[in-house]
Amino acid sequence: MASGPRQKFDNPVIEWVDSRLPIFTLMNKEYGVFPTPRNFNYFWNFGAIAMVMLVTMIVTGITLAMHYNTSTAGAFDSVERIMRDVNSGWLIRYLHMNGASFFFIAVYIHIFRGMYYGSYKKPRELLWMLGVLIFLLMMATAFMGYVLPWGQMSFWGATVITNLFSAIPLVGDSIVTFLWGGFSVDNPTLTRFFALHYLLPFVIVGVVFLHVWALHVTGSNNPLGIDVKGPQDTLPFHPYYTMKDMFGILVFLIVYVAFVFFMPNALGHPDNYIPANPMVTPAHIVPEWYFLPFYAILRAITFDIGIPFTDIVFIEAKLGGVLAMFGSIAMLFILPFLDTHPIRSATFRPWYRIALFGFVVVFLILGVCGSKPAEGFWVPLSQLCTLLYFAFFVVAIPFFNKKEPVAELPPSIHQAVLTSQPVAAE
Ligand code: HEM
Repeated sequence: MASGPRQKFDNPVIEWVDSRLPIFTLMNKEYGVFPTPRNFNYFWNFGAIAMVMLVTMIVTGITLAMHYNTSTAGAFDSVERIMRDVNSGWLIRYLHMNGASFFFIAVYIHIFRGMYYGSYKKPRELLWMLGVLIFLLMMATAFMGYVLPWGQMSFWGATVITNLFSAIPLVGDSIVTFLWGGFSVDNPTLTRFFALHYLLPFVIVGVVFLHVWALHVTGSNNPLGIDVKGPQDTLPFHPYYTMKDMFGILVFLIVYVAFVFFMPNALGHPDNYIPANPMVTPAHIVPEWYFLPFYAILRAITFDIGIPFTDIVFIEAKLGGVLAMFGSIAMLFILPFLDTHPIRSATFRPWYRIALFGFVVVFLILGVCGSKPAEGFWVPLSQLCTLLYFAFFVVAIPFFNKKEPVAELPPSIHQAVLTSQPVAAE
């Protein structure tokens, strides 16, 4: 494989390896001297934090797998054994359980950062789309992981969500039977979920590699959303951002371990400490908190879509819900092509900024709706918020493309930094 000029190292061992496989040259180029915008704020820590969480999840997950019993007869008890009898098993399990939540917290903030500063815009569209793919893979992994302790929510969550595929016309029922490996969620379902739950994190590692590769081709965006114009706008990644990332990671880990040690079950559902029982349906089936907004969108479509006042139905309510849920993620996927406004950062886009804050509020309300029973006031509220969710992408953003004034931007990053921002005329 062709490679660029190689660096010389004083350490003879490093030099010996590098002259045969220039991995240290590569690392220094990408993480040592890599030119990085000098004006990053703390939002730029969350990619590194997400990476730390991914590694934490893999390490704790593999350790758990050494003690886990993949069968409907043994799964629940094996998790209890991990908690009580395995040395530090409780710690490993709580790190893994809460780690999933904190991984999602990091990634949600990371996505918000991208939306606020327009990091999805040209030339970073593919980087963003790889991110959305990672997000989807994370959701699939987390969903299957939650089934493994084989508690009541594991079983009924798996039943509800896999059943959604039955909404697909013609082939839906066969797909569900295929997913289950039988005619209900049972032992074959658990074993395949375990196999995939073990596999997918490594697929995520692969896509994260592509994600960071794409980032290093375009270089990072920054809070001003303007391009780097020369060396005076950048700092070498090391030591400036290695130190800043380490600080951010440390603060994040302190909050994470505070949950692990002091309130390890705060983010979970108590019903999952009841062994799965196909004969008893819980009063209220809810997914983990990080799925709630999407769950609310899924349940918001309570009506068939067809020609009014006739029996003609094009899309049944259940299928409508599934399409809306996947559609909500598809919106994120195509966001780089929906938003064609020339300014990246919301700092200089007051209209978009207000709409984005509105969008975040709507997303949070959807989360609350998802946690409530689908009845009474919560149904129209989730329908309204679903409408607003989609309106942000297909009404507000296209409108801003045409009408939002194009503000004057600072001439360069270093000038903005030295004259302590903001310089732009809003
Ligand atoms: C496992 C999950 C993920 C990991 C480990 C990860 C990792 C990273 C890292 C290390 C960076 C560079 C540092 C930074 O800018 O924060 C980055 C940048 C970026 N990520 Fe992610 N990412 C993940 C998920 C996502 C998701 C879900 C999205 C979007 C849907 C996304 C979109 C972006 C974008 C647009 C950038 C460039 C930001 C900029 O230059 O301003 N990432 N990611």
